Amino acid sequence: MRLTVIGTGYVGLVSGTCFAEMGNEVTCIDIDQKKIEGLKKGIIPIYEPGLEPMVLRNVKNGTLHFSTDLSKHIKNCDIAFIAVGTPMGEDGSADLQYVLKVAEQIGQSMDATLIVVDKSTVPVGTADKVRTTIQKELDKRKLNIEFDVVSNPEFLKEGDAINDFMKPDRVVVGADNPEATKKMRQLYAPFFRSSMDRLITMDVRSAEMTKYVANAMLATKISFMNEVANICELVGADVNKVRIGIGSDSRIGYSFIYPGSGYGGSCFPKDVKALKKTATEHGYIPQLIGAVEDVNDRQKLVVAKKIAQRFNEDLKGKTFAIWGLAFKPQTDDMREAPAIYIIKYLVERGAKIQAYDPKAMNEAKEFYLKDLDNISYHDSKYDTLNGAEAMVLLTEWKEFRSPDFNEIKKRLNKAIIFDGRNQYNDTILEELGIEYHQIGKTT
Ligand code: UGA
Repeated sequence: MRLTVIGTGYVGLVSGTCFAEMGNEVTCIDIDQKKIEGLKKGIIPIYEPGLEPMVLRNVKNGTLHFSTDLSKHIKNCDIAFIAVGTPMGEDGSADLQYVLKVAEQIGQSMDATLIVVDKSTVPVGTADKVRTTIQKELDKRKLNIEFDVVSNPEFLKEGDAINDFMKPDRVVVGADNPEATKKMRQLYAPFFRSSMDRLITMDVRSAEMTKYVANAMLATKISFMNEVANICELVGADVNKVRIGIGSDSRIGYSFIYPGSGYGGSCFPKDVKALKKTATEHGYIPQLIGAVEDVNDRQKLVVAKKIAQRFNEDLKGKTFAIWGLAFKPQTDDMREAPAIYIIKYLVERGAKIQAYDPKAMNEAKEFYLKDLDNISYHDSKYDTLNGAEAMVLLTEWKEFRSPDFNEIKKRLNKAIIFDGRNQYNDTILEELGIEYHQIGKTT
């Protein structure tokens, strides 16, 4: 099939590339000329494992193209995917200006039957708005062209996006016209080798809702577990044991119940807020969804407060080694990363930071922590430790999993580790004479 994917962020670039990998003829469009020129030369604007070789391969094969010319490529395609950003508006709702601008441009340029797919995360009712916007432009051009607007939300995880797309747990397609559903089935059939059961079809509104509910459910599991961790500390229980104890119940399961420094990233914080806003707009005050957000905001500072407490609320002039800045491993993304909040809290109280992250240091320097003076960045995790009072682990990168603890002890002023992701075995650390603070268990 001939596909146009509009927006070359995480979702657009990964989807476009994977569709090309499956033999479709794909053009990825973006208004950012520099990005498009870079992509044509094989410069990938994001770090995502496996993406670069796949882009290069498909560009070379002639199945993947990049362009800034939406109007030209809309004329030549079977399906157009809208994958532009839906940032959080000031009031917490999803800002649809980019989605609707693209819809307008589609209506101004299309000249034949087309399926328009909302792939961006958009609130319930957006497909109707996209439809109305396109129709308005067609009316202006006095054209009577049939088109469908389909909701096909994306469930990929940063850091594992290629795998998620190529071997999906499920694909959700919301369409109100059976012909459009049929075409979407054809497009996705190669991704399901044995059974099409995991292609779930429904009406447009339910599909739009599914995306928000999936993210809100996962965020709820995390906040619930973080709340439990805080209670465990007070009652003298170990959350790591409680987690295993409850996860073994197949109705609960082990995934997404790891306590930590709170969820971050571009999706959970934004989507939880947007779902709350949607509910409120429809006259319903959601209590649980609001609490998920409040618990997460508080959780982001739990490690910082533990540090302040350990040093009797006097952090002035003290240096801390930070291991990990990205909101999770395998990405350079720092959006809503707990590290931002923790580092700012420490620096505001006079501390100095020596940081290391395998991928996210440029993001930190250029955007998220660029206004901070008391932070230095280091080429290796061990270099951050020299002269520091304690090591603070904030992202569970694999290279932090089994470090040389004797080296850590040797370099730190005091042998103290604060672990915001519960990565280490407390008995082993105790034997090594390292003071170990984790989430959900008192030392
Ligand atoms: C999330 C969803 O997992 C994807 O299915 C969805 O497509 C995506 O949002 C989106 O809406 O685009 P992502 O933001 O890449 O994906 O990250 P996750 O791997 O889900 O992690 C989110 C956050 O939860 C991270 O900060 C992580 O550290 C935290 N987390 C995760 C925990 O604190 N505990 C856990 O047990 C699991």
